[in-house]
Amino acid sequence: MAEINASIGFDRRLWRQDIQGSLAHAAMLAATGIITAEDEAAIRDGLAAIAAEIEAGTFAFDPALEDIHTNIEARLIARIGEAGRRLHTARSRNDQVATDLRLWLRDAIDGLDRQIVLLMKALADRAREHAADPMPGFTHLQSAQPITFGHHLLAYVEMLARDRSRLADCRRRLNESPLGAAALAGTAFPIDRAMTARALGFDRPSANSLDAVSDRDFALEFLAAAAILAAHLSRLAEEIVLWASPGFGFIRLSDAFTTGSSIMPQKRNPDAAELVRAKTGRISGAFVCLLTVLKGLPLAYGKDLQEDKEPVFDTADTLSLALAAMEGMIRDLAPDRARMNAMAGSGFSTATDLADWLVRTLNLPFRTAHHVTGRLVAKAEARDVALADLTLAEMQEEEPRITESVYEVLSVAASLASRRSEGGTAPANVAAAAERWRLALS
Ligand code: ARG
Repeated sequence: MAEINASIGFDRRLWRQDIQGSLAHAAMLAATGIITAEDEAAIRDGLAAIAAEIEAGTFAFDPALEDIHTNIEARLIARIGEAGRRLHTARSRNDQVATDLRLWLRDAIDGLDRQIVLLMKALADRAREHAADPMPGFTHLQSAQPITFGHHLLAYVEMLARDRSRLADCRRRLNESPLGAAALAGTAFPIDRAMTARALGFDRPSANSLDAVSDRDFALEFLAAAAILAAHLSRLAEEIVLWASPGFGFIRLSDAFTTGSSIMPQKRNPDAAELVRAKTGRISGAFVCLLTVLKGLPLAYGKDLQEDKEPVFDTADTLSLALAAMEGMIRDLAPDRARMNAMAGSGFSTATDLADWLVRTLNLPFRTAHHVTGRLVAKAEARDVALADLTLAEMQEEEPRITESVYEVLSVAASLASRRSEGGTAPANVAAAAERWRLALS
């Protein structure tokens, strides 16, 4: 029983929040006359001394005392006696733990948000540097159309901006104080919930005491937003793995983010990227874990809710590590411009530009232009040359009205420069977007 019951092994991480919550609660108890000012002063000093003990590593956490709340309360009573026994008036561990976890997660979200910004800055900086550098754009992982490397990096900046917005949304909704809901029904003492809410930086007290002690939506929302963020990181991580493989050869990662093989001396394995890719598993697992804990759980508090903390802690730790590794890799990677430029032009990547030329210059309907282009691609493929290497005579066999000016649209540079539609890959667009992000993030 002791072993299955105790949460101190992991909930000791809530100690700061637990003390913060107790200080706010004690101040409110004194302000409302529920305890005396002397008792409150003794509680305050006692909790400060306990904080110093925990900080110094001299606090003895006792698994027999189950959790962080009871450990701190027992220590307080041991230090200050009677006054310490008054702290738990008009509250319960049920509203206490719900309060602590909200406070903890609020800080964790703020820390992750700062890290996402750092990653976005790294991406925007590299995008500015490579705003005009071509790379092949893919659909189905087949060469589709030339894009710029900067444009590709900025796609991730957009994703991360939405991740920030999801986390901010979660933070906004979680910022209500459960404190004062007590065990489940509220309390007969004349407490002031607005006062404790204010002291803890919450926007308001929660409206329903049953909901206050049993709601873990906030943790679930965090895990959902985290799972989406992790999925984004895994996509970028997978691209880094692909780009760094010799088959692509788009980028090189330095020794700082690769490892060698124990038997193959030539290897530069992108382990950090692979681990970021893999860590998505435990984060999406954490979401499913808590969702399953909550499913079918009757109101109000059930010990099941003790299982809310580990997925939340692990997810926050894992994301923090993954974001730091990703920021490092983005700043570290060295693109091979010549290789990417060559690949950007291969695979008949300007075929769409040719079709568009036929539409614009000869007024062909797009579907017809698509067919003509398809025949020209087949012809180039049969001769094993690029589209731009077909002679004008060869082109005119398929469409007699084609003129010399068609060659102007067949280069990678021309293709890129032409993609000026809003959100398109033209270097001018990308440079402007990177600059906008740089300013927005500074
Ligand atoms: N360790 C518990 C948890 O994490 C604290 C609340 C316990 N409440 C109770 N009535 N047993 O959820």
